[in-house]
Amino acid sequence: MNTIVGRKKQIIIKTQNMPISLLITGANGQLGFSITKLFLSFGYKVLPLGKSELDITDRAEVAKTIAAHAPQIIINCAAYNQVELAEENIKAAFAVNASGPFYLAKSADSIGARFVHISTDYVFDGELEFYSETDPARPINAYGASKFAGEQLVQAACPSSIIIRTSWLFGTSSDAGSHNFVKKMLQAAQNREEINMVDDQYGKPTYAGDLALKIKELLEEKNAPSGIYHITNASVCSRYEFAKEIFSLAGLSAKIMPQSTRKSGSKVLRPKFVALENKRLMELGLAPMRPWQEALADYLKEIRP
Ligand SMILES: NC(=O)c1ccc[n+]([C@@H]2O[C@H](COP(=O)([O-])OP(=O)(O)OC[C@H]3O[C@@H](n4cnc5c(N)ncnc54)[C@H](OP(=O)(O)O)[C@@H]3O)[C@@H](O)[C@H]2O)c1
Repeated sequence: MNTIVGRKKQIIIKTQNMPISLLITGANGQLGFSITKLFLSFGYKVLPLGKSELDITDRAEVAKTIAAHAPQIIINCAAYNQVELAEENIKAAFAVNASGPFYLAKSADSIGARFVHISTDYVFDGELEFYSETDPARPINAYGASKFAGEQLVQAACPSSIIIRTSWLFGTSSDAGSHNFVKKMLQAAQNREEINMVDDQYGKPTYAGDLALKIKELLEEKNAPSGIYHITNASVCSRYEFAKEIFSLAGLSAKIMPQSTRKSGSKVLRPKFVALENKRLMELGLAPMRPWQEALADYLKEIRP
């Protein structure tokens, strides 16, 4: 039975041998898929909803679905992630990344569910390079602006929410046609002998499987306060270094040539250097995540056994 104690939305969940119930949106994406698999394997009662089951931009449907299932935890993994396309489709990006999370947060708040929302390193401009949770956000493209708006709306609608910022995600998803940087590099190596990759954008690659596990640890932490958390694999690299490691671990011989963002022809402004410091996780005493290189090796074994 789910009991809510206290007037300040302090949520105490009494499970009494009942599995904890979890609703996941965007469940067919990389993180949604990993979270679904992980929580199911730990005996949680999981309701994974892909876009065709719940479009988070449909306010009435969101309210109806959440009221009908009354989950104890809601994790929003749905997002409009195409950074380049977002520049031309600002309305669509804001609908999925800002309005949708607001509707979910409002409904979560109304039933006293713990709401977890996922955000991004792209809320920062990259000038500071190393960012903790308290550093001010300053997005420099439409995708980043829509995700930052989402964070603010979520916090206003559901003050007990947990917002997780992560970066450079790679992982398996139930959609075989889905893309991430690792898959793109593997495909490029099949078609070309020489590949140009930018060497002036730095970040922290993060494996969706590792992130899912850390989210579970955080949710199981009794004293985890609400607010923003940065969660990434350890160690920073450039896109060029990331690509080189992918090829090296995959045993591919294609050559990678470093290139500046200016020469790459990208029309979108991207932060040059964002290393999300996982400060609040450390303060809670949770172990840091492993270096991305180790996680990448495991991911490659998963997709190329
Ligand atoms: N990928 C990265 O490099 C990265 C980096 C930093 C932060 N993040 C954040 O991490 C979270 C998870 O990212 P991810 O890589 O797992 O994303 P993903 O693989 O692109 O999955 C996102 C899912 O959301 C679904 N979706 C899109 N519009 C929707 C809507 N209106 N209603 C319901 N579902 C909808 C998509 O379905 P369709 O495919 O059918 O549209 C897709 O299955 C997102 O919040 C993202 O912003 C990602």
